[in-house]
Amino acid sequence: MKIITQPDEIQSWTMQRRCAGERLALVPTMGFFHEGHLALMRWAREHADALLVSLFVNPTQFGPREDLKLYPRDPERDARLAEETGVDVLFMPEAEAMFPEGYATWVEAPSLCRGLCAVQRPTHFRGVATVVAKLFVLTNPALAVFGEKDWQQLAVIRRITRDLHLPVEIHGRPTVRESDGLAMSSRNVNLGPEERAQAPAIHRGLLYVARLVGEGEADATLLLAALGEIYAREIPLGHVEYMAVVDPDQLYPVEEVTGPVLVAVAVRFANARLIDNILISRK
Ligand code: PAJ
Repeated sequence: MKIITQPDEIQSWTMQRRCAGERLALVPTMGFFHEGHLALMRWAREHADALLVSLFVNPTQFGPREDLKLYPRDPERDARLAEETGVDVLFMPEAEAMFPEGYATWVEAPSLCRGLCAVQRPTHFRGVATVVAKLFVLTNPALAVFGEKDWQQLAVIRRITRDLHLPVEIHGRPTVRESDGLAMSSRNVNLGPEERAQAPAIHRGLLYVARLVGEGEADATLLLAALGEIYAREIPLGHVEYMAVVDPDQLYPVEEVTGPVLVAVAVRFANARLIDNILISRK
């Protein structure tokens, strides 16, 4: 496995491979790999000639009071896992190389950033969209793979890719979970033991909402009230930042469930903010 840190070097490497007719897959990450990341890499590996993974803790997607310093890092372990998973190139740029002094260009999709995570993190998706667009330009991938756990992020990336005619196929992959249902996240290591014991209720609550919809309940207010009760009872150490029933593509709030909806939540613990969601398609 090759490790590249310089933007111009990754660009010329990928350009050569692409000119040779190879299909490159890109999996963008912020590192501290878990099974969720590795599942994306394995899938990408099977659908391309060469696999590129970027590892960059992107400062522009963290707000001024957010956990950039707390974000867990272990680049040596990540490099080992990437190599074992069949990654051809690991791109690990320095922050100064990606966002040098005087950097001034941004990519945004504001209509998808009015609700959900964007309320508490107003500049987050601008940072994500910009770094992903830059990674696409630097790595020329035929396809790029993202997790559905970060559903709003995936929606924003699909949108900017379409709107800017970026020649990249975007693939979303299902959320990988711990055996107790907790969505895998690099931030899970920042949970205390009691918080960790309560956190699986995030997913259990979403499954319960899906069951209510299956039984015919269509009123989003009632569904969210039921979810709120579960969270108040089972996650006393977590503060529910939002719970929402939204259109899966446009992300606007839905009042009555008549077609597919996404139920999305964010729960804040002392040192970790966790998100999760479930796609419910009404039969
Ligand atoms: P990061 O949180 O490291 O996640 C990298 C990729 O892994 C994202 O596409 C994310 O959705 C996916 N992922 C995370 N947890 C997952 C899980 N449990 N199951 C399946 N996929 C999972 O998301 C980012 O980094 C950044 O915002 C990034 C896109 C790299 C831009 O900086």
